[in-house]
Amino acid sequence: MASSMLNGAENITLIRGISPKGLGFMSSNVSRISFPQMGLVSYGRSSMSKYKTLVPRCSSSSSISSSRPASKLRFIQHKTEAFWFYRFLSIVYDHVINPGHWTEDMRDDALEPADLYDRKMVVVDVGGGTGFTTLGIVKHVDAKNVTILDQSPHQLAKAKQKEPLKDCKIIEGDAEDLPFPTDYADRYVSAGSIEYWPDPQRGIKEAYRVLKLGGKACVIGPVHPTFWLSRFFADAWMLFPTEEEYIDWFTKAGFKNVQLKRIGPKWYRGVRRHGLIMGCSVTGVKAASGDSPLQLGPKVEDVRKPVNPFVFFLRFLLGAMAGSYYVLVPIYMWLKDQIVPKGMPI
Ligand SMILES: C[S@@+](CC[C@H](N)C(=O)[O-])C[C@H]1O[C@@H](n2cnc3c(N)ncnc32)[C@H](O)[C@@H]1O
Repeated sequence: MASSMLNGAENITLIRGISPKGLGFMSSNVSRISFPQMGLVSYGRSSMSKYKTLVPRCSSSSSISSSRPASKLRFIQHKTEAFWFYRFLSIVYDHVINPGHWTEDMRDDALEPADLYDRKMVVVDVGGGTGFTTLGIVKHVDAKNVTILDQSPHQLAKAKQKEPLKDCKIIEGDAEDLPFPTDYADRYVSAGSIEYWPDPQRGIKEAYRVLKLGGKACVIGPVHPTFWLSRFFADAWMLFPTEEEYIDWFTKAGFKNVQLKRIGPKWYRGVRRHGLIMGCSVTGVKAASGDSPLQLGPKVEDVRKPVNPFVFFLRFLLGAMAGSYYVLVPIYMWLKDQIVPKGMPI
């Protein structure tokens, strides 16, 4: 596979182009460069220059908690709102929501950097929801070694119904406060969940803690749009991190060999300006046993904490309305893909 990787411990260069295999997304790469087999093709109408150098802001080993900045609305980036969001969304999640953003081929492409090469590996799937990503994991790892954790019992109820997952351990829990011992798992996987965590840095610090020495974390998540209207709705809905932020969080948590692979639905033909709900797969290796070297203050949010019902309802409604824009974007991109001749930018 022409994998598109971006290493993160040092300067990062994004190289725009089309991967001729897989999902057709622009490759991104840094110190361990692995170009697509058929070379790079300049793509799209984005204002990005062909080469872009990113310098992660990742110097200190201790940091305060990086919860939602006040400048961003992010109505659903709150545990209680995410809980209620999935109370309803779980009903249609697998059949209506996923096909527009998170397909089986994307999932398999995104899991490839997780390096699931041994059936005996101990794997935790955090924010595992209905088990869609876990179905990709159990192709490589025995289900009895896999734990699905999620804060939504409604999502987990769907996972429990899936025959290939019947031997998995399924537990309720919080990604920012995992109920696993330190140095427990060979692999930490989390797909499409980070966007709801009020404090993503804390979640990635937890990923580091629960992994064994040499274990690998694989966080799959959205990327921030560059087109103004898409950016407005993304920022009103939930967290769409930039690629630099992912690298920064991993590096600060103590991970080494941090890499970022771009993913996306194939009918987007590599277009990233609207942002992607599943836009990248970021991996890092735990190089020293024990807890993360990063020090954080106390957790800011708890799903059981009481909230003002009026404020909650307003946030929930506005967040869900903003999120519905992202139901329309994949339909728009799909129509464009049908209309614009193959090989032309869309
Ligand atoms: C978009 S779904 C992804 C589900 C699954 N990983 C997949 O690939 O289809 C996001 C999931 O993250 C869960 N979630 C959100 N915040 C969480 C938190 N703080 N701790 C655990 N799970 C969380 C939600 O309940 C939901 O099931």
